[in-house]
Order: sequence, then structure tokens, then C-alpha cells
Amino acid sequence: MKHCDSAGGASDNMKSPDVTRGPAMKHCDSTLHVKGQSNYVDDIPAPAGMLHGAFLGSPVAHGFIKKLDTSAATKTPGVVSVFTYDDIPGDGMLGPIISDEPLLAIEETTFHGQPIVFIVAETVEAAREGVRACELEIEELHPVLCPREAFKKGDILQELRVFEKGRVDDAWKNCEHIISGSVDLGGQEHMYLETNRSRAIPREDNQILVCCSTQSPSAVQKEVASVLDLPMHKVEVDVKRLGGGFGGKEDQATHWACHAALACHLLKRPVQVVLNRADDMRMTGKRHPYKQDYKIGLDAKGKILSYDVFHYQNSGAFMDLSNAILERTCLHSTNAYAIPNVRISAVPCRTHLPSNTAFRGFGGPQGMFPIEVAIDEAAKKIGIPTWRLQEINLAGKNYVFHYGQKLEDNRLKRCWDEAAIAFNFEETQSRVEHFNSENRFKKKGFAVMPVCFGISFTKTFLNQGSSLVHVYTDGSVSVTTGGIEMGQGVSSNMIEICSRSFGIPASLIKSNSTNTSRIANISPSAASATTDLNGNATLIACNKIIDGMREVAAKSFGCDPSAISIENAEVLKDGRITGLSWRELVSKTYLSRVPLMAHGFYTPPNIHFDGVKGQGRPFHYYTYGACIIEATVDCLRGVYTIDSARLTHDLGRGIIPSVDLGQVEGGLAQGVGWVTIEELKFSDKGRLLSNTVSTYKCPDGDFLPDDIDVRFLENADNPRGPLGSKAVGEPPFMYGMAAFFAVKNAIHSYSPIEKKEIKCPLTPEQTLKLLYPNFAYSEEVT
Ligand code: MTE
Ligand code: HPA
Ligand code: MOS
Repeated sequence: MKHCDSAGGASDNMKSPDVTRGPAMKHCDSTLHVKGQSNYVDDIPAPAGMLHGAFLGSPVAHGFIKKLDTSAATKTPGVVSVFTYDDIPGDGMLGPIISDEPLLAIEETTFHGQPIVFIVAETVEAAREGVRACELEIEELHPVLCPREAFKKGDILQELRVFEKGRVDDAWKNCEHIISGSVDLGGQEHMYLETNRSRAIPREDNQILVCCSTQSPSAVQKEVASVLDLPMHKVEVDVKRLGGGFGGKEDQATHWACHAALACHLLKRPVQVVLNRADDMRMTGKRHPYKQDYKIGLDAKGKILSYDVFHYQNSGAFMDLSNAILERTCLHSTNAYAIPNVRISAVPCRTHLPSNTAFRGFGGPQGMFPIEVAIDEAAKKIGIPTWRLQEINLAGKNYVFHYGQKLEDNRLKRCWDEAAIAFNFEETQSRVEHFNSENRFKKKGFAVMPVCFGISFTKTFLNQGSSLVHVYTDGSVSVTTGGIEMGQGVSSNMIEICSRSFGIPASLIKSNSTNTSRIANISPSAASATTDLNGNATLIACNKIIDGMREVAAKSFGCDPSAISIENAEVLKDGRITGLSWRELVSKTYLSRVPLMAHGFYTPPNIHFDGVKGQGRPFHYYTYGACIIEATVDCLRGVYTIDSARLTHDLGRGIIPSVDLGQVEGGLAQGVGWVTIEELKFSDKGRLLSNTVSTYKCPDGDFLPDDIDVRFLENADNPRGPLGSKAVGEPPFMYGMAAFFAVKNAIHSYSPIEKKEIKCPLTPEQTLKLLYPNFAYSEEVT
């Protein structure tokens, strides 16, 4: 026997199998989804005696628990048990970086809705009845909601971090134009269709099975084991698919799994926890809002000489992933621009909100937004179109970022130029100007957004993927990896990779659920890297099996194994059909006692990052693109339409075109929503007001433009991704930011904007305030 995951992995230039594409491929779940037959956690038939959970959440954002009496709850009909922090047998503190979050509040509550008591009952209704029967006396304390206020009070989760390149302070004197201002950047609700949920089922010998809607099964396994004081091997976590995660379930699915597991373990009965929409919205963290101060200096030709930015991150109540997110904010603070002198200061500030967390882009968008504001403001001051200024400053080949990484394989300019030609930036400029000169109350605006997004977990150790491939004696295949299917299509990609590796149709291949008993120590499905990491691991596993099968075939044909290949499920020798089928060769291989299963392990080579010095080569490569968005503002009413979004995107050589297109359009839509209509409103006491889909508006088909034109770079194979592909999950989100500046430009041509603080999202309400800055608006109702 040999070790199934011997180190080394694939080389940087791993060759993709040379198999021609089959018929049009699609997302492997699409038929089941359309028929409503795909299973999510609570579609699995309920085991007999399953209990249901509900929470007593903190009624205040910051409070001191003076008295808690759960005796009436215990007596409520249907209620089986009531749990507080003291019932936790193991460690009741959770957190992916530091364990600072109690599973149930202890004495102090630090956000509105924070779970204090967990009740399980025969029905959901009885559990909720039990919650209402709890008697809680709580002293309300002052909630801090603004990161600047938290910083002033010294309430920070980590010391201030500073990234520096060149000499920022010396550079100002060489600048012709210096602009400074601030940004109030809003958060974002994940709005996955499937809210957080988990089911825990007791097994023999204190073992436990947890079915959970999580992006990180190993994190769930680890925390459940720690909460229950069990070794990790007694906890099995199984995830078939999620109804969306978007980063919201990278870390924050864990809590609900721990609650379910706690009751299950102590009562030895199956327990399910399902958050309803309002609870999910108020009890879980969101994209981090930021407050930012910037200063930018340019020479007479418009070249940026110096950029200084300070990020106050609104981290919420606990660390969660905040410092890793803030790090990516820092890495992406100059977006796609070459700047000789840069200073980026960043601090995670503790506030009395649910702990903010990962969300598509992982802090990157928050890093990019202020540099885009700065360039836009500078362009207005200098009097040239913003896109010209962006173009002048695009980072060229071998540009070295402030964290030390060189832009080696730079396709940024290529994307920009192809977009500029295909979508006519010049012509758009004159068409929009002409429209605006002809129309008094309707104004158009457009903006361009270049993207240069680093691919890899910035915590280098997380960049590892595993795959387990089984070929059964009937020739059918199953693949299990560490990748979580959350709609993004990783299962389909894995099937496609197996299909092309083996030379067999996708219909012979099944993608299994992700399970901690099949794959250990799984990195979260995040950082857009899931297909890269697990896909390369799958290639390695498939190649191991194929090698064995070739040997078997070569022996029977009396030739060298290199002469053997498989196409369309037929075994070929020197490219000619032999008459031996895939299935027959599988059978021969089995009878020859050669393995038909293999494990592949992959880690990208040559990545490293010193988090203390802020220097290294954190990214395996970058994904590039450029997008132009046009908008029209109704200047009497403040409402607007996003008219078109057109973009050129570097996908490498895509794996499944329809899946990739779905990712690009979905990311774009989510980015547009973030900067336009998605507004989180909290009362001044820290209670979420926008806690339903009627008060928190996400872009729908009506809001999004009909005119979305996505072009992929051609002849752009990426030697670092499986089958020549590039990561696609997060980068398109960034394109959405162009919608903000498109609307802003339209407003500006009606009524020049002279605000020092730029507020995002640009809701119709904000738009109206910018159109009519001198109107006396009534106090906001909270
Ligand atoms: N697409 C769908 N349909 N659902 C999701 O939850 N999450 C996004 C993106 N696209 C998401 C999605 C986020 S935040 C990330 S990091 C990537 O998918 C994760 O998957 P990948 O690594 O396979 O790209
Ligand atoms: N992206 C997404 N998730 C992460 C990262 C990252 O860079 N680092 C840790 N978790
Ligand atoms: Mo995505 S924010 O890395 O889950």
C-alpha cells in the first residue's frame, strides 16, 4: 500500500487531459432543482422523534442579564428541554480565529437577537411557545454602532495595521492635485434562499451525525466536538448542497449546528434547528460596513503619485473572520492601479451588532470602493472623464503591489482594451453627454470598473484540496471532494473534470455529498478557490486510477501504457478503437486487483504571505476584467434604472460555459445590489429594521438591466487552474460597483455633488438628497 495523499501535488503547469468537449454541459442539479426534487437539510425525511429548536434572543443590542427564569418554559406543553450556557459539557466559546463568542450569552448580551436560551420541543410552535414563557430581566446598556466611535473608545479587536509602500508623506509636495474625503460604506445581507439550518442525529457510542447547511464542514465538526467535549472522529458532518452561502455560511453556519448537536447529544434524540427569515436576518452577521478616510495626490498628467487610506471596519460583536477580511481589504485597497506611494491603515472595531462576516469578495470590495471614489473625485476636480483617469493609472505587467506581489500574467489591460473597443467607451461618453444636454430632468451616467482580484485564501495554509474518486465495477464513478455545492456549480465542475479525465460521459459520474468521514480537514468552500483546489485534487486522483487501468490494458494488448487512451468510453490504442469498452476495462482492472479508487491532494505551489510584515506572494494568480455600466436617473423623483452592464472577463478556459455565465451574472447582480438598493437599516438602539424581504430590497429581474453583455477573453488558458480555468465565484461581484458611479455621474450632471462624505448604497432616497441638497428633509423615522 502507499499513502493515498503523498505530498507534492500537481506541478504549476499541470496538463489538462486532452479530451474533446462532449455535448452542451449544464449544472448537474438543474433538472432536480426545476422539479423541486433536490434535497436540502430539511428535505431529508425526518427521523422518528425529531425535536425542533427555537431561541430566546437578546431584546437589546447591549445588555446585562439581571434575571432569567426558564421554569415556565420547561413546563410549556411540548417542550422537552431548555438549555443555557451552563448546560454545555465542553467549551462553550466559538470562533474561527479566536474563541470569543459564547454559544449562548453568559451575563452580557452584545447584539440584538443574540441567543440566550435554546429550547427544544416536539414541534417548532411548542418551542416558540416555550421561548415566550421565559422570563428575562435585562438592563439596557449603551450600544456602540459606529466603528469610529468604537475606535475612539479603544474598543478594537486587533491593533491598527499599516501597509506602506514608498514615501506617502514626501510625495504630496510633488502632486498637482490633492483630494481628500471620506466614505460611509454600507453592509449587505447575504439573502441566501435557504436560511441557516442544521439537523443532528445521535449515533451509537456517543457519536453524532450533523447535516448542516455550511460552507465549512470541518469547522462545524471541530466546533461541535469542542462544545460536546468529544474527539472529532465521533462527529460526522454531511453536506449535500446549500441553497446559497455567499460567505454567510463560511463561519456562521456553525453556531446552529452546535445548538442542534448540544440538545441531540444530551437528549439522545434527533434535533433540527431552522432559522426563519427574520431570525436569520437579525441573528447573523453581514458584509462588514466600513467608514473610510482617503487622500489622493496626482501629477499634472493625472498619474496617481500617492494614496493614503484609513479603514474603520465595523466588525460587530466578535472577531469571527474580521481580521482576515480586513487583510484582504488592505491587499485590494489600490484595486487595479499602479501607485508608487501607498499607505493603508486598517482597524477592526467592535460594535454591538451581530458579528459581521465573509461575503463574496471577502473585504476586497470594501478595499476597492474608496480608491474608486478617490479617482472619481479627482477626475471631477481635474475635469476629465473618470474612465480616462482610471485608464492612465492601470497597473501594467510586473507591477509590484504594496504587499510585494508582482503582476506576472497581467491581462488587465487586455480586458480593458477589449471592453473599450467592444462596448465603445468613447462613443458612450459622447452619447451620454449629448443625451444630458438635450434632457433637463432625465440624466444618464456611465462608469467603468476594472477588476484585478487575487485568487487564494490569504491564510496560506487553507489552500489545500482533497478528492476521493471511486470507479465501481459497472463502470459508474463517484467523486467526493472537500468542495461544497452552494449553487456555484462545483459539483458539476468535478463531474466534468472526471468526465474529461476518464474519457467517459458525465452521465456515468455522480458527485457525492461532502462528508468529514470521507474527506478530513476540509478548507471552507470560499475564496473562489473551491474548483481550483478540489478540481486539481480530482485530476490527480483520476490520473492515479487511469495509470493503473492503462497498465492493465497495455498488458492485454502487449503494448506500452502510453499507447492507451480512452475516449467516449472506448479504449483506444495509438488513437485507434480496440473494441474494448470502458466498462470492460474497469472489470479487467478489478479482476487484476488494481485499485479503482484514489485520493488526490493538491496545494498550489509558490504562495506565501507573512501576515505580520504584510509581505509575500499571497495569490496563486489574479482574475481580471472590465465592466461598463450605464444608468438613467429621473431627476424629479430620484429613481433610476440600470440600463446596461457590459463586460469582458478573464475566465481562463472555462469549464462549463453556462455555469460560468451564471456566476458572472449572479456576482454582477449582487454587486449592483450592494451599491444601489440594498440598505441595512438599524434603529439607533441597534435593532435591525430592514429585517424582511419587503424592507430590505434585493435586485430582481425588473431592476437588473435586460442588456447584460458578458464576453469572455479568448485564448486565455490558465495553466494554474484545472482544465485551464480560472476562479470565477467572486471577481464579477466587483463589476457591480460601476453602477454606483454611473448613477452618481448622472446625478452630478444634474446637480454637481460637493459632499465630502460619499455614502453607499446610493438608494433612491440618497439620490434625491444629492439631487436637492438644499431641501429641508424631515428627520429619518426609526
Ligand atoms: N454562487 C451561488 N450560486 N451561491 C453561492 O453561495 N457564493 C459565492 C460564489 N458564488 C455563491 C456563489 C462566494 S462568496 C464564493 S467564495 C464562491 O462562489 C465559492 O465557490 P467557488 O470557490 O467554487 O467559486
Ligand atoms: N477568502 C475567503 N475566505 C477566507 C479567506 C479568504 O481570503 N481567508 C480565510 N477565509
Ligand atoms: Mo466567499 S466570501 O469567500 O465564501
